[in-house]
Amino acid sequence: MSDEINGQMYPVLIGLMGCGKSSIGRLLAKELGLTFLDLDHYIVEKAGQTIPGIFAEQGEEGFRDLETRALREVLGTPVVIASGGGVVMREENRTLLEAHAPVIWLKSSLHFLANRIQGDKNRPLIAGRDALTVLQQLAEVRYPYYTQCADYILHRGEMNKAASLHAVLEYLKQWKYENS
Ligand code: S3P
Repeated sequence: MSDEINGQMYPVLIGLMGCGKSSIGRLLAKELGLTFLDLDHYIVEKAGQTIPGIFAEQGEEGFRDLETRALREVLGTPVVIASGGGVVMREENRTLLEAHAPVIWLKSSLHFLANRIQGDKNRPLIAGRDALTVLQQLAEVRYPYYTQCADYILHRGEMNKAASLHAVLEYLKQWKYENS
């Protein structure tokens, strides 16, 4: 499942909102000496609009178009990518992610995630709604997709950021060994 050249390793983090893709991705990039790229920030910068602004003006489909374009532009470049939780919703994106490695799914309990994101005004999918209910609905649809795209699943459980980073680095060490 690798499209990398010369054993280069440009990890992509996937998973539901609030699972730590950005915070762990940033630490991971530092450890690997790579640039960190938050796909949502990339989209926001290009569009000159916030995520809620894009959803309000162009709807979720409009946002997904921008997301697919962004993914195509950055995937395979020398960065660590933290994707948005819904990146797996488009078949085209899943095909791209399946062809790329390593893709890492940060998996946490839905209660943990709901507590982290409840009331976040920058996440239109949960605006004015019960985060746990939304996450349960998203998980049902997305878990098979995350499974399909991921080379490695980190079951975070009670793991804090440092322990999660350590576990991901251990996996990547092995990945690098097997792919160089
Ligand atoms: C979304 C997740 C968000 C962002 C957008 C849609 C989703 O990213 O892309 O609000 O569909 O799950 P995070 O996973 O970084 O919150």
